Amino acid sequence: MASPTQYDPIATQYTSYTTVPDMQLEISLVRTALTPCASLTVLDLGGGSGLHARTAVELGASRVDVVDISPEMLLAGQNIEQSLHRSPGNNNNSPPVIRYIHADATKPLSPQGINQKYDVVMANWLLDHATSLDDLRAMWGNIASALKPGGRFVGVRVRCLRAGYLTQGKYGVVFSDYEPIPGPGWRYKVSFQLDGVPVTFEATSMEATLGLDHAIPEGLGLGGWEVVPLGEDPVVRGDGEYWADHVREPSFVVVVGRKLSES
Ligand SMILES: C[S@@+](CC[C@H](N)C(=O)[O-])C[C@H]1O[C@@H](n2cnc3c(N)ncnc32)[C@H](O)[C@@H]1O
Repeated sequence: MASPTQYDPIATQYTSYTTVPDMQLEISLVRTALTPCASLTVLDLGGGSGLHARTAVELGASRVDVVDISPEMLLAGQNIEQSLHRSPGNNNNSPPVIRYIHADATKPLSPQGINQKYDVVMANWLLDHATSLDDLRAMWGNIASALKPGGRFVGVRVRCLRAGYLTQGKYGVVFSDYEPIPGPGWRYKVSFQLDGVPVTFEATSMEATLGLDHAIPEGLGLGGWEVVPLGEDPVVRGDGEYWADHVREPSFVVVVGRKLSES
């Protein structure tokens, strides 16, 4: 079983991962899903070092709370904020736009100090770290309870776990060592090369989230699902031939949903 802090030793490398083609597509799709974002409050569950939180800020979000279980990922994000001169102390004592909060997204958020409701809740690659069906339900429970009525869910989700190109890493990322686990679900390794140095972590996807099954979140009052269209994305349009395999069989997609009702 992966350690909850498996990202600690790779936090610095993970933060530089933005040059990998897969990540460039992800950043672009999440940007589309987050638009419009002006003056909105955002919760980024499993937000790591704040990659997509910074996109929300660029789009005008008034506040982004990044929650993560890895202290080193949070620290990497705080260091980036400092380098951007947005951290407190650099900013006339005004509160930081991005707050980094250490918490476990499989546990109730309120006792961990996250009590407010948000206009947008992101969970990018978080659901594919649920190691059991109970974890997955708890993550969706936190997403639903943190959203304001009518609020927006944005999530990067694994779609085709065994897309053919993933074994060769055509888009910079390799999935390997698939192992069935109770749930049912799959444990597998995700790796990418950065400046020739391999970076590997473990992911877990429950069958109840693969194939974009929405039975769990719909029971919690979420709905109105949309997948950000791949064919219209500027990264894909920039080189349609290169991205054709991903469009045909996407390893990941970005899903948008809405909080329709209190469950
Ligand atoms: C693949 S990384 C993605 C980081 C970020 N969302 C992004 O897209 O750049 C997955 C993140 O989820 C975090 N994570 C995994 N399980 C978690 C949990 N139970 N609670 C909070 N964070 C978790 C990891 O520490 C890691 O930072």
